Amino acid sequence: MTAQRKDFLAIDDFSLDELRAMLTLANKQKPLARAHELPHSHPNRTLACVFAKPSLRTRVSFEVAMGQLGGKTLFVTDKEIGMGKRESVHDVAKVLSRLVDGIMIRWFDHQEVVDLARHATVPVVNGLTDLNHPCQVMADIMTIEEHLGTIDGKTVVMVGDGNNLANSWLNAAIRFPFNFILACPEGYTPDEGVVRKAEAAGASFMITHDPVEAVQGAHVIYSDAFYSMGQEAEAEKRRRDFAPFRITSELLAGADAGHIVLHCLPAHRGEEITDEVMDGPHSVVFDEAENRLHAQRAILATLMP
Ligand code: CP
Ligand code: NVA
Repeated sequence: MTAQRKDFLAIDDFSLDELRAMLTLANKQKPLARAHELPHSHPNRTLACVFAKPSLRTRVSFEVAMGQLGGKTLFVTDKEIGMGKRESVHDVAKVLSRLVDGIMIRWFDHQEVVDLARHATVPVVNGLTDLNHPCQVMADIMTIEEHLGTIDGKTVVMVGDGNNLANSWLNAAIRFPFNFILACPEGYTPDEGVVRKAEAAGASFMITHDPVEAVQGAHVIYSDAFYSMGQEAEAEKRRRDFAPFRITSELLAGADAGHIVLHCLPAHRGEEITDEVMDGPHSVVFDEAENRLHAQRAILATLMP
């Protein structure tokens, strides 16, 4: 890993070799961690986990991961920090860098996380912003490879919103050789800058408004909520707009026979995905949730001094 690559803010910040090395480490460590036999590579290190949005998986997996590496975490919300209001992003970055060995942050404004990382001297890991969710997609790729051998050459179809997860999938398609399709309603396409960057990089992707056509022959079906954290006021409108984009057994009839279904969770069961699909034979959603731990532990172990 190059010395200046201290932060994990977006998947395409890293080369394919660097990303592959992290996934290899995650796969190597997974059985050891499960057997409680992982050596403590980061004793006495502290990771600050900063949250401006709720979380189950991200908070728990980072806390458990640091414990398994021999370190510890502290949980702090923006209610205490008041970043950009009580204190500047610059000063928060400088102070945290003196007190802890790494920062994981779940935030709204992606640019503020970029600014925090610029001023911090310890690694900053993006635990989700409005723009992207790179740790989730690393865990997703790990899960896909566990079940399908490799993501290379596969077709991953996200049915739903052109949101932070769609953006991270586009970032991933810049590096990994798979085909990404997003089926979203009109008006819910991904970030334009992210799309332009994926186009310029020659990533294999397509954005369509036809979910039935999109899933034909798909190897991976990907789901997320119709409305993200911070968009709760739009829930009713979005439920209407996204009605044809629900993941149901009927929709999946055209997918590859061996397809797998992922959902980053939390799911609104019966809304964007039916119970039948979530709990069905193609679903790997809880393997995916577990892999948050293994993928993120590998990211921390790679980036933290
Ligand atoms: N998938 C995910 O990030 O879950 P949490 O919001 O519970 O952390
Ligand atoms: N798109 C969702 C992902 C939750 C893990 C959100 O940002 O709320």
